[in-house]
Amino acid sequence: MALSSAPGKVYLFGEHAVVYGEPAVPCAIEQRARVGVERRDDEKIRVNAEDLSLDGFTVEYGGRTEDEPDIDVSESLLAAATGYVDEAIAQVRAVTGEEDVGFDVTIESDIPLGAGLGSSAAVAVAAIDAGTRELGTTLEVEEIADRAFRTEYEVQDGQASRADTFCSATGGAVRVEGDDCRTIDAPDLPIVIGFDGGAGDTGQLVSDVRDLREEYEFAANTVESIGNIVRNGEQALADGDVEELGRLMNFNHGLLSALGVSSRSLDAMVWAARDADAYGAKLTGSGGGGCIVALDPSEATETALKFTPGCEDAFRAELADEGVCRLE
Ligand code: PMV
Repeated sequence: MALSSAPGKVYLFGEHAVVYGEPAVPCAIEQRARVGVERRDDEKIRVNAEDLSLDGFTVEYGGRTEDEPDIDVSESLLAAATGYVDEAIAQVRAVTGEEDVGFDVTIESDIPLGAGLGSSAAVAVAAIDAGTRELGTTLEVEEIADRAFRTEYEVQDGQASRADTFCSATGGAVRVEGDDCRTIDAPDLPIVIGFDGGAGDTGQLVSDVRDLREEYEFAANTVESIGNIVRNGEQALADGDVEELGRLMNFNHGLLSALGVSSRSLDAMVWAARDADAYGAKLTGSGGGGCIVALDPSEATETALKFTPGCEDAFRAELADEGVCRLE
């Protein structure tokens, strides 16, 4: 068996706008997905992901998705996770040329699903690395990032940027603008995450923003303004100016709200962090529900979030310097 892990991420700046060619700065965090892949004697893919969400599940199915799963997971977010594994395995088969190989895939993850922390990217990155290594091929990090991007692109019907997958593959803070992805220097950031227990529908939210941008000039301008904030944010990161980073995150959240992708619980958590004197706070990822990211070196934000209606969990996150990691 080959076992790999890959980190989740928060967006310091730039989600949604990155889909339209503006820059974004995601940052890998030490919440990880671990994927074990073992070759089978037949062509089946068996996915075992007991720790992936609140309810454990095991799905067995043949080939890609030609056959029905043995159990119905269609109502569940786990169905989406299974889709990412399926496509990641398709990438493994394509890159190794071993089209008929089957696998037992085991997933464990500390990253809530669909909550803006890059769970699907982390699963795709770790699965591609472990799957290819199981077949005796070791890919460069850039190739893993590219294959994981193609995985997300397929599963999300062409609505994906390279940001999450590149960040998860390389670790650290990353700057993404179109196809140009690179790691950038970042100071140690006092990251606090608030989680409302929910999830957003990334595909739907991305297409809602697309429609808004086509219909209203203000929305197109808002997307551009987010790009400007990202460029200011890059400078603040380079200067190690955490106060300015926080201020810019607050602006970024306001603009995401204007695009309609925040929610009552995300706003409540953002305001709880601001009231607790965090340097700044914003939603992370596609929005609609899920997580916020705040910067606060003190305990105040974490404590305040725990008493905020709508907040289910609050925790600190360390920047993950290491991206995909080969465990076995
Ligand atoms: O919710 P997440 O973590 O999948 O992030 C989505 C970020 C978007 O910019 C909205 C879409 C994308 O692919 O970049």
